[in-house]
Amino acid sequence: MKIISVVGARPNFMKIAPFIRAIENYNNNSNAVEHILVHTGQHYDDRMSKAFFEALNIPSADINLGVGSGSHAEQVGNTMIAFEKVLEKEKPDWVVVVGDVNATLACSVTAKKLNIKVCHIEAGLRSGDMTMPEEINRLVTDRLSDLLLIPDRISGENLKNEGVPDDKIAFVGNIMIDTLESNKKKAERLSINDLIQKNLIDGQLTVSQSGNPATSPLHHFTISQFALITMHRPSNVDSKEILKPIIEFLSNEVAEDMQIIWPIHPRTQNRLKEFGLWNSLLSNEKVILLHPVGYHEMLKFNMEARVLLTDSGGLQEESTVLGTPCLTLRWNTERPVTLRNHGGASVLVGNSIDRIREEYKSTLTLDRKPKRPELWDGNTAERCVRAIVNI
Ligand code: UD1
Repeated sequence: MKIISVVGARPNFMKIAPFIRAIENYNNNSNAVEHILVHTGQHYDDRMSKAFFEALNIPSADINLGVGSGSHAEQVGNTMIAFEKVLEKEKPDWVVVVGDVNATLACSVTAKKLNIKVCHIEAGLRSGDMTMPEEINRLVTDRLSDLLLIPDRISGENLKNEGVPDDKIAFVGNIMIDTLESNKKKAERLSINDLIQKNLIDGQLTVSQSGNPATSPLHHFTISQFALITMHRPSNVDSKEILKPIIEFLSNEVAEDMQIIWPIHPRTQNRLKEFGLWNSLLSNEKVILLHPVGYHEMLKFNMEARVLLTDSGGLQEESTVLGTPCLTLRWNTERPVTLRNHGGASVLVGNSIDRIREEYKSTLTLDRKPKRPELWDGNTAERCVRAIVNI
């Protein structure tokens, strides 16, 4: 059997790493499954891509389509044109796509048009929000997939409600938690201070208000507690009217209580500069701005944070397993199992400052409480491979 699996953007890498290892284990020195890894090249920076391949021991992609940045139509269109050539040459039995990024959509459509079977890992998630590019990617991919591997039972209900037959659906659990489990120990050993030193964005010390970089608190990093921030969704960062009040809340209120650690996504950094918000953030000594950090580094920050404020789907899931009290800067989520009313660690706060403030205050009274949704047990990748070879 020949399988091509596809990655495109940062959140795909931690999902494909255990899948590739599970294929190797299944093969056990045989060639039962021939596997080819394709990287569309949507994320191309070393910090957004290469660092994850190295940290998670993902073998280099066999083929890189080099699509890079662009509008959605450009990314999807360029991926389809390049991926079609790969499929015509390689003629796989299955194309395996993960998550909900543009690569997921582009490669599942291309494969189906060539009558190649598609397996979607992380199928069935629905936010119901058609303004999210990821929701469109999920809907199209699931509609086309021959095998839909779901991370939780709610996703299975979503698919059944859309008319997907039972025999196309398999409940395998959350593959990202395989990666979390196998990397937890390594992350634990890291030092927060070292991580900050290593990833600090240039210019923070030189514009420090203290005037003297040598005496800046950034040099000491005696951080007893900190809030961890990540934000990259267009709905939060692409408009100044929404982003500015969030930045003011973080710098004027959260930073009063504790240090802020914020690994900045390239999209967000670009917007902050465009909107004239970058320099004041850079000069705030309570805000530590970092380059995008590696997998183990983010895991360590998540393990130690007093509170997490994020719009990332993956971090919502990881915070549930780690128990980090989490405020999700969105009005909806495709991952309801991560919410406190479903036993998870997060609460939806959207981007209204009143709501964020209220939930932030009550979240500070909460302790870290790790939770483990059904089948988020570290063995999902093995179940994925078995589901594909046994169908
Ligand atoms: C993409 C995914 C999103 C995922 C996120 C995680 C889609 C539709 N969105 O959004 O689901 O949560 O990745 O990171 O696929 N850029 C760089 N270097 C890079 C990559 C991007 O500088 O390596 C910059 C480019 O200016 C680009 C911008 O970041 O225009 C946004 O990148 P893009 O790939 O379009 O989408 P993300 O916002 O990263």
